[in-house]
Amino acid sequence: MIDLAQLRSCTKCGLSVTRQRVVVGSGPSHAALMIVGEAPGANEDEGGEPFIGRSGRLLFQLLDEEVGLTREQCFVTNVVKCRPPGNRTPTREELGACRPWFLGQIQDVAPRVVLALGNTAAKSIFGFTEGMAAVHGRVCQLGDARGLATYHPAAALRGGPSVVDVMRRDLLVLKRLLGEL
Ligand code: URA
Ligand code: SF4
Repeated sequence: MIDLAQLRSCTKCGLSVTRQRVVVGSGPSHAALMIVGEAPGANEDEGGEPFIGRSGRLLFQLLDEEVGLTREQCFVTNVVKCRPPGNRTPTREELGACRPWFLGQIQDVAPRVVLALGNTAAKSIFGFTEGMAAVHGRVCQLGDARGLATYHPAAALRGGPSVVDVMRRDLLVLKRLLGEL
């Protein structure tokens, strides 16, 4: 079991200096689905919960429409728990420093399916070397869980309906996985 008090006061990387809150994650302790983004943004850094801004609204709208799941039914977190200044991409060092926390959460929650959002999470979790256009919707094994990646909802907010359509199709793959297991 990860030690939540330790995580909330973690100083294993430089992001601890500029963050307001460590965004641990939220959801049932044994959710079937674990959703993993990149890192907290400004809203999350202030509110202490993942995906509470515009990206999250789109994400949970699509999840509801395509899979029939609510935010409350999923465990939601990020590969990096503290906000990078200006929302820059986390460095390799930061990803490495935070990785044990994420691995601990996978062990604790023991989800059946893991959904990675965006390239940073997808590469970090599944070790993909290609970009999202090539790897989205590809089903992987992650220990006892199955996993897949899709675009980050922020990319869909920028990229418009064509990206949203791809996300919808990937979510249907996810729904099938949840149904099979
Ligand atoms: N983007 C992310 O990757 N994670 C969040 O929690 C919010 C926005
Ligand atoms: Fe610790 Fe992760 Fe925050 Fe870095 S990002 S200080 S490793 S919790």
